[in-house]
Amino acid sequence: MNFKLTEEHLAVRDAARDFAQNVLKPGVIERDEKMIFAKDEIKQLGELGFMGMMTSPEYGGGGMDTISYVLAMEEISKVDASVSVAMSVNNSLYCWGIEKFGTEEQKQKYLVPAAKGEVLGAFALSEPEAGSDATSQRTTAEDKGDYYLLNGTKNWITNGGNATYYIVIAQTHPEKGHRGINAFIVERGWEGFTVGAKENKMGIRSSDTHTLMFNDVKVPKENRIGEDGFGFKFAMMVLSGGRIGIASQALGIASGAYELALAYSKERKAFGKPISQHQAIAFKLADMATEIEAARLLCMRAAWLKDQKQNFDEASAMAKLFASRVAMWVTTEAVQVHGGYGYVKEYHVERLMRDAKITQIYEGTSEIQKIVISRAELNKF
Ligand code: CAA
Repeated sequence: MNFKLTEEHLAVRDAARDFAQNVLKPGVIERDEKMIFAKDEIKQLGELGFMGMMTSPEYGGGGMDTISYVLAMEEISKVDASVSVAMSVNNSLYCWGIEKFGTEEQKQKYLVPAAKGEVLGAFALSEPEAGSDATSQRTTAEDKGDYYLLNGTKNWITNGGNATYYIVIAQTHPEKGHRGINAFIVERGWEGFTVGAKENKMGIRSSDTHTLMFNDVKVPKENRIGEDGFGFKFAMMVLSGGRIGIASQALGIASGAYELALAYSKERKAFGKPISQHQAIAFKLADMATEIEAARLLCMRAAWLKDQKQNFDEASAMAKLFASRVAMWVTTEAVQVHGGYGYVKEYHVERLMRDAKITQIYEGTSEIQKIVISRAELNKF
């Protein structure tokens, strides 16, 4: 077992840290408050190669491993989880899915610009009644010969308002259940495709979350990903990789809050000494550091398994389950360490606490992760 990061890993981590601290941090409070999507900052992130980190250079990506992705996601999420979710969806759900399962034409047309960070990709699976129960897709894609007719509504779609291309999951053969589901690449601007208003959320407020409506949208047959009926498995595989991204996001939210709490505890004095010198606070910091390190190891293990081309479904679910719980707990403790200051916006920790909650909900709730983990465990014996 080798826990040592390579020079390349450290360089990626430092570049992401530098970008987060110098470019993202100055405007993060205002973006959160006014729900401003960080369009220019995400463009810059793309120019630095972070929007298609794991895509091979042949298709415009950085050709980096998943460990690098975890490191970059942690650094960006320490400062702005609204930006890191755009990065995660583009990298894991959009680019990875097309590179692994798309045709050469799909890769050239839809992957290359997204991996280069020139356009954003989105992934539309969730519906009003099909978030956790992903097999119950109500959106339909009727086979009309050389095209499909897409009808339905998708909810809470990250990058929904600013994406150029969307992977949309829909039911083609209802009688076949999950084996009748397909995944399609849909372009913004196609007739019948409209984007609803931006959601006013508790956390990750500046991320670009929208409802999508499809009304008789004609999708060419060549835009289906994989064989007829492959859509559900495609979605499950893509989400399994995506969970490494969200676990790393949760890790970053936790470590960002921890670093702020640690620094504050050394400055703030009470009863004649810095509060870090009081055991009540020092023990909190010890617990926070330990939980974060455990979450980091689970993220790294899932990433390592993926890089080794081994099955990582259970590992990514464990990483997401644990890291999101740690994020919620650590950010709450970080607010506590800050006392009254933690409850006001200038100190950042209240935002991180609000942002942490989504990591227990999207790309599968904590309960969904437990389904994935328990099924894997029960299959072992
Ligand atoms: N890889 C490959 N195949 C898989 C798979 C995987 N990881 N997981 C399941 N499958 C296959 C199964 O083998 C099965 O295939 P067969 O019938 O051919 O054997 C098929 O898929 C159906 O699997 P299940 O019977 O396990 O399906 P289920 O209905 O019991 O559901 C579930 C399983 C785990 C609950 C699944 O529905 C799920 O993951 N739900 C959560 C979905 C989710 O994460 N939504 C988030 C939306 S995206 C988002 O949030 C993005 C964002 O904005 C940030």
